[in-house]
Amino acid sequence: MKKILHIISSPRGEASYSIRLGKSIIEKITAAYPGSTVKENILVNKQFPHLEEAQITSFFTPPANRTSQNLEALQHSDEVIREIKEADILVIGAPMYNFSIPSTLKAWIDHIVRSGITFKYDEKGPKGLVEGKKAYLAVASGGIYSEGAMKPYDFVTPYLQSVLGFIGITDVTIVRAEGTSMPDIKDVAIETAINQMALPMVA
Ligand SMILES: Cc1cc2nc3c(=O)[nH]c(=O)nc-3n(C[C@H](O)[C@H](O)[C@H](O)COP(=O)(O)O)c2cc1C
Repeated sequence: MKKILHIISSPRGEASYSIRLGKSIIEKITAAYPGSTVKENILVNKQFPHLEEAQITSFFTPPANRTSQNLEALQHSDEVIREIKEADILVIGAPMYNFSIPSTLKAWIDHIVRSGITFKYDEKGPKGLVEGKKAYLAVASGGIYSEGAMKPYDFVTPYLQSVLGFIGITDVTIVRAEGTSMPDIKDVAIETAINQMALPMVA
């Protein structure tokens, strides 16, 4: 039994490939781990906030010196970090926007990468502090990026893998619904992605 956290960043609801792909991945995980629970964080519903001066100041104010305004400014960050720490498995839905991720998902990342909480620097360099998690990336793109001429334009998967690895989440599986703007291909994009996905390993 696993605790699954589904991060949703497409605003397209039931029409969204990344949401449907995320749900298909979750079905596979729950089949492997019956009784698993799923918590959704739909970033687009909350208009997840971009970092502003108040949050950045609060991040770098030592906990003992934080004012009530500092604590209030940290609420979104504290909440999403708590959600991650509580989960065993993250399923992160990522539509490709202009070769990268939607700004809402970037805002979420800016709130979870926190010095002293999710990473720190020691004498050897940076060290991720979020350990023992597994992440699946449910990536949707209008074109094809897993191979061919457009492959170097994929800034979604290298970025997400790098930033998750930076905070300690190094076990990352990429699942792609590709060609969602391409006739014929779009109709089988999710099925193809799921068929190519390795079955979750039962530990
Ligand atoms: C603002 C915007 C930018 C996009 N940029 C790209 C892009 O750079 N490359 C691409 O292949 N598809 C691009 N697309 C197409 C989406 O990646 C595709 O429709 C995908 O299915 C969106 O994910 P969703 O179905 O989960 O919403 C873009 C779509 C939008 C709305």
